[in-house]
Amino acid sequence: MQDYHEFIDKVLVDAASIEKRVSELGAQISQDYAGEELLIVCMLRGGITFTADLTRFLTIPHTLDCMSLSSYGVGHYASSGNVRVNFDLMTNIEDRNVLLVEDIVDSGRTLAHVLQMLRTREPKSLKVCVLLDKKYRREVPVEVDYVGFDVPDKYVFGYGIDIDEHYRHLRFIASADLKKYKKEDNLSK
Ligand code: IMP
Ligand code: MG
Repeated sequence: MQDYHEFIDKVLVDAASIEKRVSELGAQISQDYAGEELLIVCMLRGGITFTADLTRFLTIPHTLDCMSLSSYGVGHYASSGNVRVNFDLMTNIEDRNVLLVEDIVDSGRTLAHVLQMLRTREPKSLKVCVLLDKKYRREVPVEVDYVGFDVPDKYVFGYGIDIDEHYRHLRFIASADLKKYKKEDNLSK
């Protein structure tokens, strides 16, 4: 695995700013759902870190489930437009308040797909919380209810977000200079 210092462009959001914003989102969500029960749906795998931190700022009763969709395959750095369900929720969401927690909304295709799929299950409410919004890249209109940060049209990594499955553990969010990034020959290693 290449040292990220060799290809980092710049730190877009540092750890302290992430924590502050995540705490604000937690407080806002807790206020908006006061008196209600909430099902948090973590979109694997990029949403893991954000979801784990966000739920610790919630003061309302909530439960957690996960689902996995992919639009970017390993080794691709632009949305393929193809969205695949790797695995689905275990919870029946009928009549539940559902909040999807996702790392990034880019073209909007992944979210549009999952929202359409979940709506057919007739939840009581269905909202979306994304950590990062690449607004200018939108190809499909999707309504996002809570946004952590707007980010420029650059490939980003850290705080749950990967490049070829690596660098998710970093506490900050940075942009990458992909010209300097060396892709490993065998990514399944
Ligand atoms: P969309 O379907 O084009 O909106 O893509 C959303 C998904 O693509 C996100 O959930 C991420 O997993 C992935 N993605 C988009 N931009 C980036 C990026 O800059 N770094 C890593 N993953 C990204
Ligand atoms: Mg994702």
